[in-house]
Amino acid sequence: MTKKKYTITSALPYANGPLHIGHIAGAYLPADIYVRYRKSKKDDVLFVCGSDEHGAAITLRAKKDGLSPKDIVDTYHFLNEKSFADIGINFDIYHRTSDPLHHQTAQQFFKTLDQNGIFKKIISNQFYDNKHQQFLADRYIIGTCPKCCYEHAYGDQCEKCGSALSPSDLINPKSTLSGDTPVMKETMHWYLPMQDHQNWLKDWIEKGVYKNKKLHDPKDWRHQVIGQCKSWIDGGLRERAMTRDLNWGVKVPYNDVDGKVLYVWLDAPIGYISATKKWANKNNKKWQDYWQNDAELIHFIGKDNIVFHTIIFPILLHAHGNYVLPKNVPANEFLNLEGKKLSTSKNWAIWLHDYLKDFVDQQDVLRYVLCSTAPESKDTDFTWADFQARNNNELVAIFGNFINRVVVLTNKYWDGYVPKKSNLTQYDEIVMADFTKYAHRIGQLIEKYKFREALSEVMNLARLGNKYLADTEPWKLKKIDEVRTQTILNISLQIASHLSVLSEPFLPFTSNKLCNMLNIEKGSWDNIKELHHNHKINSASLLFSKIDDEVINQQLSKLKLQDL
Ligand code: MF3
Ligand code: ZN
Repeated sequence: MTKKKYTITSALPYANGPLHIGHIAGAYLPADIYVRYRKSKKDDVLFVCGSDEHGAAITLRAKKDGLSPKDIVDTYHFLNEKSFADIGINFDIYHRTSDPLHHQTAQQFFKTLDQNGIFKKIISNQFYDNKHQQFLADRYIIGTCPKCCYEHAYGDQCEKCGSALSPSDLINPKSTLSGDTPVMKETMHWYLPMQDHQNWLKDWIEKGVYKNKKLHDPKDWRHQVIGQCKSWIDGGLRERAMTRDLNWGVKVPYNDVDGKVLYVWLDAPIGYISATKKWANKNNKKWQDYWQNDAELIHFIGKDNIVFHTIIFPILLHAHGNYVLPKNVPANEFLNLEGKKLSTSKNWAIWLHDYLKDFVDQQDVLRYVLCSTAPESKDTDFTWADFQARNNNELVAIFGNFINRVVVLTNKYWDGYVPKKSNLTQYDEIVMADFTKYAHRIGQLIEKYKFREALSEVMNLARLGNKYLADTEPWKLKKIDEVRTQTILNISLQIASHLSVLSEPFLPFTSNKLCNMLNIEKGSWDNIKELHHNHKINSASLLFSKIDDEVINQQLSKLKLQDL
């Protein structure tokens, strides 16, 4: 029997700007937690991501900065790759869609779809800029919103009233390239008639049934994900163009086609597959093992990506054949910042690379706060006051305090040698029966994508340790009952050992420090190391430190400056 494979993906971020905390909370931290857990369970898991380097998002940014798209993607690909690594998001591969292997993979995929006859070629009129001799992507056209009369609405959306638009809805449309009124010009594109897939999609999404097989229980999918899918399907699926007139992207792979590229939402998710191929080539694996048979594919994304991962990409995988469909798409809602929507263009954000500069060696604090307040079922708010409170009252006062007391006492009383456990009281037995249940409990929550709750159970384990010490007061017993003191510290050290494993998915840097302090190799989820009598631990060092008001005020004034 070969081992079950897990393929975990995080949305490929556009390489058109740096990452902020909303990205991390939405699609990357939860995936990383899940993957670290699976790895600790010794599962065969692959975690892929990379830069999304095509589409109008990139060309617009290049134009704004007076640079080439290539300059832009090179800058942000490497910056983002480094920020991810620095915050401990451990992809097995961070690929990029400009890689030749990706272009080849996406083109082959497109050809297969075309040969399978799933596209309709349709000629239509599209806006064209005569001066620049170029068809205009939706975002390249601005005009007056027909709903709210805002004069700078984009061809795909009005940012004032939020309505989804198409360019022909705009009153008085103008090209952002030349400022001229665009003309209409005929162009041919490959369309995906999504309505042809309505029936099987509905069964798959609403019942988890595909080709007469039950693949998942819809109850395991987040209700907002199912809700979005249903409203798309019930609203009636239509055809959507899978190619674009653009000169930046994956070229349509035919000789007689010029100036057409694959739609970025066709190209980018295939990036998950090409990333897998790249990784497999390097590591002497078979990429197919991670995309076929009983491989479990899980997409971590933000809510703005739901339709692409639950409807469009699954249709493409189905139409191509020989691929699994996603087992789950645990999309997150949005994270706000100090009560306002995060916005890259308005610079209302906490940039990851800034945080890493300002909070050296405090990656886990951000990971902790973002997971504790993750927008798993509704939008949530990040505030610096909450960040400070969670650090000071939870990480420092509960987790850090427990570990510190255990390690300091062991060093003080027995030179760091783990004392013996004997003559267990009923209370000891209860505490032991209790702490050994956490691995299973936390694991179950992670498997259900309930990361907030899982993390709060990790803290409950630290609380249990603190309470045990507070109830038994070994520091008062040492002189009167040495044996009892030894037993209490032994049990406390076992709790610390459990924490080193069970905190790892969430707080990997802390977990490493804790293993060093305890002088152990990291255990695995199902095999947490017992600290044996006379094993020698190291001296105590602080896992967390208090964050002062001054530091928080600095961050708040920085935000105010950004908000001008
Ligand atoms: N770049 C897109 C975004 O930031 C996400 C692409 S996810 C993929 O919204 F599936 F297409 F890769
Ligand atoms: Zn509007």
